[in-house]
Amino acid sequence: MGKALFITGTGTDIGKTYVTGLIVKRLKDAGFRAGYYKAALSGAEVGADGALLPGDALFVRRTAGLAAEDASVSYIYRDAVSPHLAAKIESRPIDFDKVERDFFTAKERFDYLTVEGSGGIICPLRWDEKEHVVLDDLIVRLQLSALVIADAGLGTINAAVLTAEHLKMREIPLAGFIFNHWQAGDRMQEDNKKMVEEMTGAPVLACVEKGAKDLPLAADALAALYA
Ligand SMILES: Nc1ncnc2c1ncn2[C@@H]1O[C@H](COP(=O)(O)OP(=O)(O)OP(=O)(O)O)[C@@H](O)[C@H]1O
Ligand SMILES: [Mg+2]
Repeated sequence: MGKALFITGTGTDIGKTYVTGLIVKRLKDAGFRAGYYKAALSGAEVGADGALLPGDALFVRRTAGLAAEDASVSYIYRDAVSPHLAAKIESRPIDFDKVERDFFTAKERFDYLTVEGSGGIICPLRWDEKEHVVLDDLIVRLQLSALVIADAGLGTINAAVLTAEHLKMREIPLAGFIFNHWQAGDRMQEDNKKMVEEMTGAPVLACVEKGAKDLPLAADALAALYA
């Protein structure tokens, strides 16, 4: 049985997939069996044959050089809206027993499975007469620690600290943060890093610059975050 880590972010489009690609690449290049899993993706591209394409999984595959079967997504929706709404539009609600099965099947196959969330920590995955499930409920159900991707720029102290406080409230272990769109030498960004670390007590493990091709974090330090 392998280990897994949940990647969430301070919001949608913050760079979870971009950074996850670098994370999986680092683990794979170090010789580990590394895989990627996402429970629900909305805003899928539509292929020439009308098939829905899981863009996040394809990006991670390309970045890390994974085989197709090593990056999987359980639910793929077309509309670029929150999964709970996309599922409603397509009358295809998420079955969390299936998600749990898919997750454990993937976890069995790899040394390190990286699980990407949807949106930020408060992302409704299913909200109908039968069930109310938010992303944080899924992290709790899968018993994972969370690594939070945050933008390095203005506004990140608020977003990062709120995310950390919510994780604490839900008793989800916080592995740390990765800052994205980092500009070395920027005084505000350097201060954001210090403030987020001091206010949350969790480390900013790596700072990823625009267009970065590698994660500035050693494979062993990265692997140690997985549980
Ligand atoms: N460090 C970076 N350098 C260059 N491009 C980046 C970087 N980080 C993010 N991007 C680009 O910004 C866009 C949004 O990033 P990404 O898809 O990783 O966000 P996300 O948090 O995974 O979004 P979602 O919530 O939809 O899953 C993408 O086009 C991505 O390639
Ligand atoms: Mg993504």
